[in-house]
Amino acid sequence: MDIFRIQGGRRLEGCVPVEGSKNACLPILAATISLNGTAVIERVPWLNDVQTMSELLKSIGVRVQRSAASQLTIDPSSAANPVAPYELVRKMRAGVCVLGPLLSRFGYACVSLPGGCNIGHRPIDLHLKGLGALGADIRIQQGYVIAECKRLSGADINLGGPFGSTVTGTCNVMVAAATARGQTIIRCAAMEPEVCDVGRFLIAAGAKIDGLGTPVIEIQGVEQLGHVHHSVITDRIEAGTLAIAIAMTHGKAEILNAPIADMTSTLSALREMNVIAEVKRPVAATDRQSDIGGEILEIDGTADHRSGDLVAQPYPGLPTDMQAQFMAMMCVTPGVSVVTDRVFPDRFIHAAELVRMGADIKVNNGSAVIRGVRTLSGACVMASDLRASAALVLAALAAEGESEIHRVYHLDRGYFEFEKKLNLLGGRVVREHAEE
Ligand code: UD1
Repeated sequence: MDIFRIQGGRRLEGCVPVEGSKNACLPILAATISLNGTAVIERVPWLNDVQTMSELLKSIGVRVQRSAASQLTIDPSSAANPVAPYELVRKMRAGVCVLGPLLSRFGYACVSLPGGCNIGHRPIDLHLKGLGALGADIRIQQGYVIAECKRLSGADINLGGPFGSTVTGTCNVMVAAATARGQTIIRCAAMEPEVCDVGRFLIAAGAKIDGLGTPVIEIQGVEQLGHVHHSVITDRIEAGTLAIAIAMTHGKAEILNAPIADMTSTLSALREMNVIAEVKRPVAATDRQSDIGGEILEIDGTADHRSGDLVAQPYPGLPTDMQAQFMAMMCVTPGVSVVTDRVFPDRFIHAAELVRMGADIKVNNGSAVIRGVRTLSGACVMASDLRASAALVLAALAAEGESEIHRVYHLDRGYFEFEKKLNLLGGRVVREHAEE
């Protein structure tokens, strides 16, 4: 298993690019199953979760070809096996995104339940409720969801849950409804930019969808979806993680292709903490979410930082996927900061490892209180999930001395060659293979 050895205390400077969005790409790849044609997908980040999704598609019988470094050509015409096995869904919860597409293509899906994970209890009851409302007959058998239907029929569905809507659940229902008979209305739909990108992918394939980016999505079912050529949006979480890395090391650097319009909550949280986040080429309002065009985000973290009080919420709130990285920054920000996560209230495993680096954090009831220390000290720490591992890498970059981050396979699930990007900015991060 790989580890990162990081020499801390270097200001990050220069400029760095951002990949296509993992969380948009995964449900888009899953949605290709429902096509009656070929998909060419550009800006595919070739990271571990995307490779796992590609394996899953191949096990279903879909032909997936990596036609260029960040381009996939996908032909689902030979798909024949509507099963998502535990071995693959266990590795990556987004495997559940094939549920709606399989139902749409085969009228049958057998998908492993993903089970719990380190960021808390993660049910899929809302996915099942939505697909059930479209007419699927659903049962749980030996750890698998078995869903069956003749042709799905449109319905009025509310996807609101105790923690807001569901991102991958909205994608599952939207894909299934795209070829259902009649009209579907999804209320309390997730508004995340990644959901909008999945919607745009479906529209490009022939679907009729209105209301993307709002809590009410209307879908008029069509007979079939056809060929599509789509370019995935830029990863707002990778861009945000890099922004914090630059700020936290009191550096100054440019992030190329940053999806500014999708990052407003992250940028405003950084500004509250006295980081200058400047858009060098402002985006026109009409360009919202069509962010392939290359805005440049300059992050200047050289001034003294201020403590913050942040709440992770569904979009357009601060993403829960940025919570751990902000907490890392707060560890070395003077004063008392508070972080609350309303999406995954138990998502604080990273706090214990940050404490091992000298942070002062108390977690209680879905919130963490962080008292800034003058400096963190390098340590040997263990990554526990994807964003927690990013937080530990950031903490190590700002710490005094050397850190060893173990289990970076968590990081590799969602960041493509992240150490190369940090080194491009002047960081000192070495990947080593270590026996655990
Ligand atoms: C997606 C993202 C993940 C992000 C999360 C929240 C992908 C591949 N992953 O995960 O990175 O952290 O959104 O922005 O896009 N819930 C239920 N019932 C359900 C489904 C969810 O109660 O059927 C709850 C969850 O436990 C959680 C909240 O709703 O508390 C949001 O979860 P959800 O939006 O579904 O997360 P994912 O789609 O799995």
